[in-house]
Amino acid sequence: MTSHAQVPFPSHVCIIMDGNGRWAKKRLMPRNFGHRKGVETTRRVVEFCAHAGIKHLTLFAFSSENWNRPDEEVNSLMELFMQSLQKYTGELHEKGICIRFIGNRASFSDGLQRQIVETESKTSGNSRMTLNIAANYGGRWDIANAARVLACRVQDGELAAADIDEKTFAQALALGDSPDPDLFIRTGGERRISNFLLWQLAYAEFYFSDRLWPEFGDDDIRAALEEYTRRQRRYGKTGEQIEASS
Ligand code: IPE
Ligand code: IPE
Ligand code: MG
Repeated sequence: MTSHAQVPFPSHVCIIMDGNGRWAKKRLMPRNFGHRKGVETTRRVVEFCAHAGIKHLTLFAFSSENWNRPDEEVNSLMELFMQSLQKYTGELHEKGICIRFIGNRASFSDGLQRQIVETESKTSGNSRMTLNIAANYGGRWDIANAARVLACRVQDGELAAADIDEKTFAQALALGDSPDPDLFIRTGGERRISNFLLWQLAYAEFYFSDRLWPEFGDDDIRAALEEYTRRQRRYGKTGEQIEASS
């Protein structure tokens, strides 16, 4: 992998894994077939990223709006989460990956919540890469939740309202202890955020792929990472200022 002098390798990559349903539909198969195939892509991409030295990978698995899908699809997605965690936790643990979940987990079944806790506690000591799985996650939920957490701290006298700034707010969000994503990837051809990490994506580089998630391969992720190294991140400065400091 070549790395550009101006933009170092991304430390945090986040992905909206989209296109499972359309992939299945093209094959005249039920949507759930696409979700199953999508899990295989997820496994490959996680392995690729760990191998490439990415320290934080955040994957959007189920949005707070995905409950609005037909019951049958929601139920099979819940079953697939459970099966995938049971099947891959051990393997990911052996690869040194720390798995964490972000999102409102209270809406999941007791069994799935227990599995989430088990996966998180088994892998919590790993440091090669942190894999954040966004499940029942919404960016607006995250921001409202952070506001509630901070309000409670003010109410309890632990924090002065005047001390709430961007830093304290960011720390109260999901991923509050991780750097902001450097690179955002969305597969499946849509050009939108769909309520993913609204706050945290403020300065991420966006990369959209028309490839559907089940067919997103190593070459595709490599292309996204290489494109990232060609971007110039200016954070409000001029291109000349960035060139002078690199
Ligand atoms: C993404 O694929 C997976 C989830 C949202 C769970 P989709 O299921 O959204 O696939 P398309 O967009 O309908 O093709
Ligand atoms: C976003 O994809 C959520 C996940 C990939 C989990 P959707 O397919 O739900 O997004 P919209 O509805 O097309 O915006
Ligand atoms: Mg979709």
